[in-house]
Amino acid sequence: METLYRLSYWGELRVNGVAWTLALDHRTTLLDALRERLSVTGPKKGCDHGQCGSCTVLVDGRRLLACLLPAVAYDGARITTVEGLAQSGRHHPLQEAFTARDAFQCGYCTPGQLCSAVGMIAEAAAGHPSLVTEDGAADDTAGGIRPVALTAAEIRERMSGNLCRCGAYTHIVAAIEDVAG
Ligand code: FES
Ligand code: FES
Repeated sequence: METLYRLSYWGELRVNGVAWTLALDHRTTLLDALRERLSVTGPKKGCDHGQCGSCTVLVDGRRLLACLLPAVAYDGARITTVEGLAQSGRHHPLQEAFTARDAFQCGYCTPGQLCSAVGMIAEAAAGHPSLVTEDGAADDTAGGIRPVALTAAEIRERMSGNLCRCGAYTHIVAAIEDVAG
């Protein structure tokens, strides 16, 4: 009996406010769809195995590793890459802080660091605890949640999935502290 394999898929990717309709091999990662099909090259391919964070993008506001995601699963999702962080011709405050703090050397990891930092600040603001958050720090007395203060230790832990081969960590943490504070 003949077996049918569906190798292409038509869908819509919404990237930095622009909707793209394209046919994709269903094995294509979101990272390859962005870089190879749409020429959105901000997200970088470092390890291609979910280990370095250089491909981090925001999907509906959450930070995710684009090298691990099948693009067809994100049909219609709102994807933001480093190219989409600036608004109304102005850099995102994190971009300004990274520049002011000299928080990069080669810059290869920087797009992922920036997207990850944006997502991480939102997670802390929504009261998501990390491994180093003290018990109860994200709970208010009424049983709800409260934002987690982003100390240097919190930032280091929450950004630990984003590696920097140049070792710019001290300045990266300082830049994020400037904005998160
Ligand atoms: Fe995606 Fe390294 S390229 S985590
Ligand atoms: Fe070179 Fe981070 S600035 S890898």
